[in-house]
Amino acid sequence: MTTHPLPRGGTDKSYCGRGGSAHCSHLLFGLNLLDTSNAPSHHFKAYLFTNMLKDKFGIIFGVANKRSIAWATAQALHEAGARLAFTYQGERLKENVEGLTSEAMPGSLLLPCDVTKQEEVDETFKRVGEEFGRLDFLIHSIAYAPREALGGLYLDTSREAFLTALEISAYSLVQLAHAAVPLMTQGGSIVCMSYYGAEKVVAGYNVMGVAKAALEASTRYLANDLGSRNIRINAISAGPIQTLSARGVSDFSTMLKHHSERAPLRRNVEAREVGNTVLFLCSPMASAITGEVIHVDCGYNIMGI
Ligand SMILES: NC(=O)c1ccc[n+]([C@@H]2O[C@H](COP(=O)([O-])OP(=O)(O)OC[C@H]3O[C@@H](n4cnc5c(N)ncnc54)[C@H](O)[C@@H]3O)[C@@H](O)[C@H]2O)c1
Repeated sequence: MTTHPLPRGGTDKSYCGRGGSAHCSHLLFGLNLLDTSNAPSHHFKAYLFTNMLKDKFGIIFGVANKRSIAWATAQALHEAGARLAFTYQGERLKENVEGLTSEAMPGSLLLPCDVTKQEEVDETFKRVGEEFGRLDFLIHSIAYAPREALGGLYLDTSREAFLTALEISAYSLVQLAHAAVPLMTQGGSIVCMSYYGAEKVVAGYNVMGVAKAALEASTRYLANDLGSRNIRINAISAGPIQTLSARGVSDFSTMLKHHSERAPLRRNVEAREVGNTVLFLCSPMASAITGEVIHVDCGYNIMGI
């Protein structure tokens, strides 16, 4: 593998800030991004990303444990120099998030936030405003559906399960974007997590597929609403990853095996690869991308027969 020394001061000069041109930001990425000798992107030298989000403030919703996509995302954003706030859903998960951040990212802001409790959402953004003064990005990595709705026939979905899944997994994007926008005074980037079950039938994914379809459509409508404020919003459609939530999907290990055999890259995606794509979407590199659903799935979605 070839390595190129980092030019002194190179990363500082290469960050152009919001609205910065692709010309400036490519200087950072030009260093050795084209070295493809190792496929998974976490093998890229960490220094490539250092300072890309320096002096930027972000909030991450959805860290449950070290396997969470939100945690892999936090690591990518942290390595790029961002200052982060984390929310956790209730006391049950507080200890996990505290444990992870106290070691890796001391000084992070930790806040309780269950999106079904509007007062916790309001308090979260009040605290973020007090601590950070503004917000540059928001990561929505939240989903939930009652276990009984994630298997069997979609036909049997109860009203209660439908409303719960859609509220927590899709409406929450609108809710959090609405609360974040007043703090995104210098533009911003919002990223949420979707899955292929939004586009095609994935047996057992059921009501969550419908919630993801609503999430993806919300991404497009919000992109139109927020574009004039230079706030971009995109969804990542991630391939299957073994996480706490994934355990709720029936026959998830068969899904993993199927994806790794069928995907053009003949493997499953790693959480950190999703995190790296979030980093890209939060960076000036993605300054003209909004309202998109970007597949980070080793190419699985392009396959027919
Ligand atoms: N793991 C996969 O295979 C996969 C694939 C594609 C997309 N996704 C999506 O990625 C996102 C993150 O999931 P993950 O796989 O990292 O699992 P995870 O269990 O680690 O994360 C899900 C998070 O949602 C949070 N959450 C649930 N209900 C909430 C509520 N009422 N208020 C606030 N937070 C709540 C949980 O606390 C948890 O932190 C989800 O949107 C999921 O659908 C996952």
